[in-house]
Amino acid sequence: MSIVYTSESRTFTLSGGNTSYVLHIDDMGNLLGIYWGSRIPDGALKHDPAPYFSISSDEFYTTHTPWEIPTPGRGYYSDASLVVVNAGGDDTADLKYVSHTITPGKPGLEGLPATYTEEDGEAQTLTIKLHDDLTGITVEALYTMFEQSGALARSLRVVNEGSDTVSIEKIMSASTLLRGADWDIVHLKGAWARERNVIRNPLGEAEYALGSRRGASSQEENPFIALCEKSADEFKGEVYAMSLIYSGSFLATADVDNRENSRLSIGLNPDVFGWMLKPGESFQSPESVQVYSADGFNGMSQIYHTLYRKRLARGVWRDMVRPILINNWEGTYFDFNEEKILEIAKSAKELGIELFVLDDGWFGKRNIDNCSLGDWYCNMEKLPNGISGLSDRIHSMGMMFGLWFEPEMISPDSDLYRAHPDWCLHIEGRSRSEARWQLTLDMGREDVQEYLIDVLTREMRNGKLDYVKWDMNRNMAEAFSVMLEPECRFETQHRYILGLYRVLDTLVERFPNILFECCASGGGRFDPGMTYYMPQTWTSDDTDAVERLYIQYGTSFVYPASTMGAHVSAVPNHQTGRMTSMRMRGDVAIGGNFGFELDLSKMSEEDTKTARELVEQVKGIREITQKGTFTRLVSPFNGKQVAAWQFISEDESEALLCFYRILGKPNTAPDIVRMKGLDPNAYYTDDEGNIWSGAVLMGHGMWFTTRGDYQSKIVHLKKTEKA
Ligand code: GLA
Repeated sequence: MSIVYTSESRTFTLSGGNTSYVLHIDDMGNLLGIYWGSRIPDGALKHDPAPYFSISSDEFYTTHTPWEIPTPGRGYYSDASLVVVNAGGDDTADLKYVSHTITPGKPGLEGLPATYTEEDGEAQTLTIKLHDDLTGITVEALYTMFEQSGALARSLRVVNEGSDTVSIEKIMSASTLLRGADWDIVHLKGAWARERNVIRNPLGEAEYALGSRRGASSQEENPFIALCEKSADEFKGEVYAMSLIYSGSFLATADVDNRENSRLSIGLNPDVFGWMLKPGESFQSPESVQVYSADGFNGMSQIYHTLYRKRLARGVWRDMVRPILINNWEGTYFDFNEEKILEIAKSAKELGIELFVLDDGWFGKRNIDNCSLGDWYCNMEKLPNGISGLSDRIHSMGMMFGLWFEPEMISPDSDLYRAHPDWCLHIEGRSRSEARWQLTLDMGREDVQEYLIDVLTREMRNGKLDYVKWDMNRNMAEAFSVMLEPECRFETQHRYILGLYRVLDTLVERFPNILFECCASGGGRFDPGMTYYMPQTWTSDDTDAVERLYIQYGTSFVYPASTMGAHVSAVPNHQTGRMTSMRMRGDVAIGGNFGFELDLSKMSEEDTKTARELVEQVKGIREITQKGTFTRLVSPFNGKQVAAWQFISEDESEALLCFYRILGKPNTAPDIVRMKGLDPNAYYTDDEGNIWSGAVLMGHGMWFTTRGDYQSKIVHLKKTEKA
């Protein structure tokens, strides 16, 4: 059983994998969070006075209480996780326990992406009902404990059972008090083309807040936060992490109180969120997934990887190896016609590539990025046989066909804008702030949602599409919907995301065989919310092999390799100007969903040969990279100019060791990389027929003698009989 209620002590012990989470209802009916950490026996921890007991102070009981859902105004001064302003104007809520249920499996969340179970035995869900008598607000706190991994999914549902409208000003999906303040904080910060750099700092005696107000989870911060022991590294030490299954603005905080307790929270960003809840209505928060690991960051990542790959991503592509693709964007940008596209497709076919993706520029009169978003009909001057004709030609070559869309956007220079100038986010009487010459559709509007569902259904059918790249290239401005009453305008951003989810849900269900890839100027919406609808995401617009080592390393903190699009592009690289070999570019892209993004018809003979070898190689190993266990071995962030990671196949009979030297160094010993998780009693052959003991590969390690900058080596190991 993952969840046990002990009635004498009024505690809930939620246990799975190596972790437990304990809740306690005190004598006054308050819900307290009294433990999160390594696994303990059911019911063994009865209550925990430590944070609020003091021998030398008579401060309010409330000040240091480990509230599970802290509300303001009652003598608690750290971060509140729920702020509801009632008709009387006060923002507190005295939430008292009413009842609870423990049910097998996991319920879905209305209108929102969430983790799920396929069989009831995989998890149990605890729902605790709390009530505030004055406002009539009921809060349902949902906890799903995944039995095998110990991942804990949480969310709050607020129901207005009172007779007045209340205003939700802040709702965090999860908030937990951890003992101690001697932590490091780890998060994934970045920018366009520099996504998800791993940042680690001492938490100190401070409040640390990170997040996005952009209307997208963003490149700036990923919806993830972790605290770890000072001594924690990739392989050892305690890590406490939270990840939010949401694609819009979010906030994650770590707040240290004056008794050295640290409160870790994640949820919607209250700076750009508000919600008027009328009597009888309910509001569901997004889901947070918290993970405890005693095995450092790899331990944490592996729990997220398995859960997000198998119980967040959905659909037929979830378990299928992903096709090797060619995308024409960096090869042609807007400058293409059917002949050019077919020429690239022909070269792709010759290399063994399986999917052709036609990127931006196929619709309206879009020969430059200042027009036509919204006009989703084919530019017949460029493609005289239409998308349907092109699709037929690509299909008859024996390849799949995919298309780029940026559905949430509208160009002021478009037929759609001329017909519906009011469909974009804007404020009456103010100018509309453009970015990349475009405005954002108000996705919270039902007419906009219906229009998009219709138009995209038509194009997906007409184009017989096998794949869709769903892009989104600007963040919100003037994010106030004209459809909403002034007091509801802070609902705009969240309503947008709910509208987007509705459109995606409809299309994903209508086209179950299409492989959807998420994109937002690269990885600007690389978040678990999107993974629920689209099993893969374009990791970054930066395709430089060296930069990608950092980006893919950071992304892997939460997201499995099967979610990361990784393409080989031309050199000098279009983002950094760097020259690297085709081999190095390929060896880096092997770590994700492999593809090419250059004009294949213009490659040198040598590069064509390497590209063919890469395609062949990827076909032989993608079962391992997409479904195997991924472990980071050497971080590029440590400044040593080396990166390394490994994959072990699901049946543990094969492994891949991926080694990268960034800048060369004279007169040094070979680089030695120690592998993890192999069978110490087994032997493995490498590609050259050498036989290695698993114990040696882990104890001593494999050595690499490289010369020069930007060197790489992928070693494919297979279990073998001892020589
Ligand atoms: C974004 C994407 C790119 C490409 C362009 C097209 O920048 O991230 O991959 O699709 O848009 O305009």
